[in-house]
Amino acid sequence: MTDTERVAQDDAAQVAAVRVELGDRSYSIMIGNGLLDAADSYRGLPAASHCAIVTNEMVGPLYVDRLAAALTGLYREVHLIVLPDGEAHKNFATLQRIFDALLSAHCDRSTTVFALGGGVIGDLAGFAAASYMRGVPFVQVPTTLLAQVDSSVGGKTGLNHPLGKNMIGAFYQPQRVLIDLGVLRTLPDRELQAGIAEVIKTALVADADFFAWLEIHLDALLARDAAALRHAIGRCCEIKAAIVGQDERESDLRAVLNLGHTFGHAIEAGLGYGEWLHGEAVGCGMVMAAHLSSAMGLLDVDAVGRIERVVARAGLPVRGPALGSDAYMALMRRDKKAQGGEIRFVLLESIGGATLRAAPDELVAAVLATCTSGVRS
Ligand code: NAD
Ligand code: GLY
Repeated sequence: MTDTERVAQDDAAQVAAVRVELGDRSYSIMIGNGLLDAADSYRGLPAASHCAIVTNEMVGPLYVDRLAAALTGLYREVHLIVLPDGEAHKNFATLQRIFDALLSAHCDRSTTVFALGGGVIGDLAGFAAASYMRGVPFVQVPTTLLAQVDSSVGGKTGLNHPLGKNMIGAFYQPQRVLIDLGVLRTLPDRELQAGIAEVIKTALVADADFFAWLEIHLDALLARDAAALRHAIGRCCEIKAAIVGQDERESDLRAVLNLGHTFGHAIEAGLGYGEWLHGEAVGCGMVMAAHLSSAMGLLDVDAVGRIERVVARAGLPVRGPALGSDAYMALMRRDKKAQGGEIRFVLLESIGGATLRAAPDELVAAVLATCTSGVRS
């Protein structure tokens, strides 16, 4: 039995630890209830006189007092940086606000940055930490399911450019990831569903048994059953930690974690950031990738049906918006996995087995015709 499975059967006070092994940049992902308030959560972090909490106007009022109270005994000064909420603000102007606040507060090279929020805050605060004075320590305190199962782990940080999603950024690992399961209680249903998209993705690329578990326990996850959430979050962190430990900078293996993202990023950029949630775009993108895998003769149609059913049951879209095939293709050519203008997709050879391949344009166009809700004239 793994640590995570043990916790899933234990009482709410248990804390699981998943390790990301990266030599002298290794760190722990702590998973439990009430971690925000627990002294153990902060033990062993680098010593500093200042820390800064980066959060947003939605999450701040809910949780910043608890985090600030825990940090007050550890740092002489606790600075608060509250940003506007939403994907549309994951940009240079918002990044500049973080730098302005850090400099105005005389934060130095030892200042520890705490990212309290979802993936937008984690990505922005992480990139600010990576570049402020050429790098200061940071801690991820993810408050969405998506951030707890994916974005807070692995050190991808960055922001969007009008010409492409997550195009500016850095690999920069946190000192620790603190996953307090209790914060999920206030997460809106639509955001929970978006997080489940990344859970489905993780199972699809790495663990057929976990996907089968999801087929059985999806309703429990949607109902926020505590044991189901613990298990899903723990398993996703274990899988991601193992992949990042082998291929931190995505030279090869890590790319499988982008299943659904080539189509998904095109949807997000094509509609305008924030129109669809990232997880919604990934959910739909996975269905498109499954159809493309089948069209390429890699995946059987039964598997495509299972994937589409789970994505739909999670309340996620299974058909993309009508951006038009040309727009999709142009946006996908800007994907970070593209090489020399050739789009490379994460495709499935089985449930639990992914591969990175180029695909003929005519097959991609056929999938777009099948999986979008009509081509705009
Ligand atoms: P988000 O950060 O926008 O959060 C979603 C919404 O939920 C926001 O309105 C937020 O204020 C609110 N919220 C957060 N926690 C809450 C809580 N506990 N209670 C109530 N409301 C809460 O979106 P997200 O889905 O967390 O993250 C999406 C972003 O993550 C995208 O920009 C995506 O590109 C990025 N991402 C990054 C990685 C990575 O490896 N770095 C991986 C996946 C996604
Ligand atoms: N979310 C994909 C990755 O971290 O690699």
